[in-house]
Formats: sequence, C-alpha cells, structure tokens
Amino acid sequence: MVKQEFIKLNNGNEMPAIAIVGTGTKWFKNGETEENFTPELVEQIKYALTLPGVVHIDAAEFYSTYREVGKALEESPKPRNEIFITDKFCTQEKWTKNPVDSLEKALAKLGLEYVDLYLLHSPFITKEHNGFTFEEAWGYMEELYQSGKAKNIGVSNYAVEDLERLMKIAKVRPQVNQIEYNAFLQNQTPGIYKYCQEHDIQLEAYSPLGPLQKKPADGDSQPFYQYVNKVAENHGKTPGEVLLRWVSKRGVIPVTTSEKRERTKQAQEIFEFDLTKEEVDEITKLGLQHETLRLYWTDEYNKFNAESQKA
Ligand SMILES: NC(=O)c1ccc[n+]([C@@H]2O[C@H](COP(=O)([O-])OP(=O)(O)OC[C@H]3O[C@@H](n4cnc5c(N)ncnc54)[C@H](OP(=O)(O)O)[C@@H]3O)[C@@H](O)[C@H]2O)c1
Repeated sequence: MVKQEFIKLNNGNEMPAIAIVGTGTKWFKNGETEENFTPELVEQIKYALTLPGVVHIDAAEFYSTYREVGKALEESPKPRNEIFITDKFCTQEKWTKNPVDSLEKALAKLGLEYVDLYLLHSPFITKEHNGFTFEEAWGYMEELYQSGKAKNIGVSNYAVEDLERLMKIAKVRPQVNQIEYNAFLQNQTPGIYKYCQEHDIQLEAYSPLGPLQKKPADGDSQPFYQYVNKVAENHGKTPGEVLLRWVSKRGVIPVTTSEKRERTKQAQEIFEFDLTKEEVDEITKLGLQHETLRLYWTDEYNKFNAESQKA
C-alpha cells in the first residue's frame, strides 16, 4: 500500500495532502466544443485512478474538461470513497446562474452525487459581472455545504482582505484557499501564507513546479537549482519530486499535473520519502532569493511582485 498523508481541515474532515491530476493548465480549453474532447486527459485520469490509495483530482468549470473527468470516472473501477474530487465555480465567465446551479450541472456531467471540495475560483465577484455579490456567492457555497453536495467548501486566489471580508458574514468558514505557490512565489498576495496558517485555512498550491516549468537554459549553474539537484540525487529522487515534497513540508497541498504516467505515479508516492528540516529551510531561503515567478492572475496581482518573495 502506498504511504499517504491526509490533512485535517477546520471542520474535522480530512483531505489527501496532494492532488495528482490537475485538469486545467495544459489541459485547459476555453469552452466545450464537439471537436475539442481530449482523449489523452481521459487516459491520464484513468491511469491515475489505477494507483493505490485515495486519488485527488482537481477540476473546475472554467477548464471545460468535465466530459473527460466524467468519462474517466465512469470507466474506472476505483470506489468513490478512494477518489477525492475538487471542483470550482467559474467566477471569470457567466456560464451558469450561480454556484448552486453550476455544481448541480457539474455533478450531472461528472456522474457524481457530491464533490469532496468546492471552491470559488477567484474573489473577483460583482453583482454587475456575476449577477450576485461577493457575500451572496458565499451564501450559495454554504447552501451546497448544508445540502451535502459539497463535503467541504473554500476559495481560490483569495488575498487576506478577501478572507477578512468573507469571515465577517460566513456561517461556515472556508476550509481551503487554493493559490499559486512555489519556491519562487511564496506569497501570491501579501501575507497570505502566514494568515492562512494562523487562521486554520488549508492552503493548496497550484504551479508547485513553476521553477521547473520556467527553468532557464543555464539553470543548473544557479544556486537554487544546484541545491535542488543535489538534494534530489541524495534521496534518489527527481528535482520535481523534491519540489513537490518541499511544498508539502511547508504545510501546503501541491496540485500538480502531467501527461506522463511516470510523473503522475511519482506524485502519488511523494510521501514515501522525506526532506530534513535543513533541506526544507535551504530551499525556502534560496527560493526567496530568486526573482518572483508569477504565471497566473498576473493582471490582478503583478502589483504585489516585490512583496511576493517575502517569507
Ligand atoms: N485555482 C487556479 O486559479 C488555478 C490556476 C492554475 C492551475 N490550477 C490547477 O493546478 C493544476 C496544476 O497546475 P500546473 O500545471 O501549473 O502544475 P505544476 O505541477 O506546477 O506543473 C505541471 C507541469 O510541469 C511540467 N513538469 C513536470 N516536471 C517537470 C520537469 N522536471 N521539468 C519541466 N517541466 C516539468 C509538466 O509537464 P509534463 O506533462 O511533461 O510532465 C506539467 O506541464 C492545474 O491543472 C489546475 O488544476 C488552478
């Protein structure tokens, strides 16, 4: 049996400490069409579902990949209680009326009765654009939580001010905040890492492998990459495994994806090895010395670049 870790959330529920199949980024499509079904994604999810343990899949209305996730789930023999599904309400486009309407439609497409975690994709919600306010959006999320259609609820890309605004009206506190996080972006927005740790809001990290996705040609001669390579060699692991493990040792749940079976399997087995405190601290330190790497929500958050590389 694979060694797994689970995180206890602020409502007492547990969730897997890594998501191994993100269905956005490289799989992202801007709307579903008859031509843009992606069989490779179905195969990758089906493969992930053959791996032992609870398998965590990260989905979202915005990615337009429900058909692929639904087909893989339908064709997989893995029992529902060994699958953890995260989904997100699309705040960017107005494809559905509200989070309740959206999740009900998503569940039908996915062939599911509930999702394990449901998130608001961003804090950028206005009556004008979305048809309801920031506060009303959370009311819909609480309705889904009470009805059991979402076992846990949370947010994504929320800054400290957004969480404070939410907390003023929340009857159910958010369990999770999914943000962009890696060694080269240790605070998506000012102070968010510390705030979530202190308020028992579990952080998830998308782009955990940002430093490898954007590794420069001469990267191996830079102190950060030299050190990560050395740690990887000492543990008999790849730099990718080391960086995912670093994220988890920082108390954050990595959300990764790959089209390669080998990397998906390695991600599921990430808890089979450990990093020492010295290794974790050194990666944190060398990462902070690197310039900010921000790949998503750049229009909204580039203004924080100078502050994003503070511990
Ligand atoms: N909430 C949000 O706003 C938001 C935003 C962005 C993403 N997300 C979620 O997070 C998921 C993961 O995001 P991500 O794709 O940025 O995750 P990531 O784990 O940082 O990056 C995955 C990418 O890194 C590549 N990679 C893996 N190992 C590598 C290596 N050694 N060298 C170079 N490249 C390597 C993979 O390529 P191969 O396929 O070749 O292995 C894959 O394309 C998304 O799919 C989505 O579900 C959420």
